[in-house]
Amino acid sequence: MHNFQSDRSPAIIILDFGSQYSELIARRIRETEVYSLVMSHTTSAEKLRDLAPKGIILSGGPKSVYEEAAPICDAAIWRLGIPILGVCYGMQLMVHQLGGLVEPATGKAEYGKAPLQVDDPKELLTNVASGSTMWMSHGDSVKSLPEGFVRLAHTSNTSEAAIAAHSRRLYGVQFHPEVVHSTDGMLLIRNFVYHICGCEPDWTTTAFIEEAISNVRSQVGKKRVLLALSGGVDSSTLAFLLHKAIGDQLTCMFIDQGFMRKGEPEFLMEFFDQKFHINVQYINARERFISKLEKITDPEQKRKIIGTEFIRVFEEESARLGPFDYLAQGTLYPDVIESAATNIDSKTGERVAVKIKSHHNVGGLPKDLQFKLVEPLRRLFKDEVRKVGRSLGLPEEIVSRHPFPGPGLAIRILGEVTNEKLNCLRDADLIVREEIKKGGLYHDVWQAFAVLLPVCSVGVMGDQRTYAWPIVVRCVSSEDGMTADWSRLPNDLLEIISNRIVNEVKGINRVVFDITSKPPGTIEWE
Ligand code: XMP
Repeated sequence: MHNFQSDRSPAIIILDFGSQYSELIARRIRETEVYSLVMSHTTSAEKLRDLAPKGIILSGGPKSVYEEAAPICDAAIWRLGIPILGVCYGMQLMVHQLGGLVEPATGKAEYGKAPLQVDDPKELLTNVASGSTMWMSHGDSVKSLPEGFVRLAHTSNTSEAAIAAHSRRLYGVQFHPEVVHSTDGMLLIRNFVYHICGCEPDWTTTAFIEEAISNVRSQVGKKRVLLALSGGVDSSTLAFLLHKAIGDQLTCMFIDQGFMRKGEPEFLMEFFDQKFHINVQYINARERFISKLEKITDPEQKRKIIGTEFIRVFEEESARLGPFDYLAQGTLYPDVIESAATNIDSKTGERVAVKIKSHHNVGGLPKDLQFKLVEPLRRLFKDEVRKVGRSLGLPEEIVSRHPFPGPGLAIRILGEVTNEKLNCLRDADLIVREEIKKGGLYHDVWQAFAVLLPVCSVGVMGDQRTYAWPIVVRCVSSEDGMTADWSRLPNDLLEIISNRIVNEVKGINRVVFDITSKPPGTIEWE
C-alpha cells in the first residue's frame, strides 16, 4: 500500500475482515508496546511469510462464513507455523476452513456482556478470571470443532467461546477482547502477544523517534523539505521531529488566512520560531482571504474559496521560498488505512502528493507541483502522536489542544465573514476556552468554542436598548468526532461565560447554549 521499506516489520499483523474493531485491535496491541498493523484479509500467505510477523490476528466481520460472498483468507496461512488468533468472525473462519462446523445460533444469538466460564486456565487464558465479563456480538456459533481443537472456555449461550489447537498454535475467541467492556480482554491480548507469540515490548516512543529520525535522514539526504504548519498537534509534532532530524533543511510555512483564534499566530511564531529556532515563514494572507469571501454566505462555497486560495498562496510561497524536493505531511495511520488511492512514484517507491491532508482543506495540488512526501507519523495513531509530541518537548498547550477546523473561524461565522464579526468571535471564543479551562473541564470535553450568528435580536443594557448578534456556545464530548453529545456544563459556569461575553464583547447581546447531539446535529455549525 505504501512504502514500508525502511520501516520495521510489524510484530503482529491483523487481517481485516471488515470489523469496526480492526483498528481498535491494532491500538490495543500497541498499548502492550508491540508494533502492529492492519492488512487486508486478501494478503497472501507468501506475503505474510516474507513480513514474518510473530503473530497474526484475524478480525471480526459482519458476514457469516457460510455466505457466498464471505471474505476468506489464503488457506495456506494455517500452515505457516505462525501463531494465529481468530476473533469472532476470525475464529469462525478458522473453524470453517479447517473442517469444523459454523451455524446460525438459532434463537441464541448473543449480544452484549457475558460472563466467561474458563475451562482451561493456561496459555491464552492465563489469569483470565472465570466469571469475568467478555463482550459478545455474534449471530453464528461454532457447532463442531475441527480435528485437533479443544475448548478453552464457554458462556451460558455459547459452548465454544474460546478454542485452541495447541500444537499448531491456533487460537480462537468468540468474544471481543479488544473492547473496554471485556474486563480481562487486555490480559488475554497480553497472553497472546507476549507468551504465545514471544513478542518483546519494544514499540516505545523513544524507539519510534530514533527510527523515524534515521528513516527521514536516509529518505531526504541533503534535500530541502517544506512543511505547512497549522499549529495542530500533528503538524506541530512533525515540525519538532523533522527539525530534530534535518535541522535547517526544514522550512515551515505558516499561512495566516485571518481565521485563527485570538493570539494564535503570535503564539505559534513565538513558540516555534523564536523559542525553538525552527525556521517558520510567516505568510500574512489575511487580506487575500477575507476579500475573496466578500458577500459569500453559502458554507460550501466558503470552504471551496478558502481551499482554492490556500493552494494559490501555497504555490506562490513555495515557489518563492523553494525549490523544495519534499513536502512533509502529518498523515496518521488511520488516514493510511482509509486512503484507497495513493500515488506511488514508480522509481523510488515513495508516496507522491495527490491530496493535501483535509485539514488544510485543499482538494488537490496542481500536477506541476508534485512533491515527494515525507510522512514519518504515518505509522501512528493520534494518541501515539501526542506521546511523541510530549516526548519531543511540545507543551501541553499544543499536545492536548482541541481539534480546530482548517477554515477556522470562517465556518464558525454563519453567513458573510467580515473583520468586525471575526473580532467579536475571537473575543467570545477566548472567553469560552478560558472559562472551560478555569473550570477544569478543558481535557474532559472534545471541543468547546463559540459560534456567531448573523441575526440581530433586541436586548437591554443599562438604559440602552441593544440590537445585536448572539453567540452560540458549543461544547461537546466525543471519542472521535464522528458522534458527539452536548456537554452538561455546570449552570454556574454557563452563567460566567454568558455574563463575560455580553459584558466584554462589543456587538454581542445574547448567549445561547447548543443542546444538540451529533447526529442529528454536526459539531461545527457552518
Ligand atoms: P462536524 O462539524 O462535521 O465536525 O461534526 C467533526 C469534527 O471535524 C472537525 N472539522 C474539521 N477538521 N478540517 C478539519 O481538520 C475541516 O475542514 C473541518 N471541519 C470540521 C470539527 O471541528 C469536529 O472536531
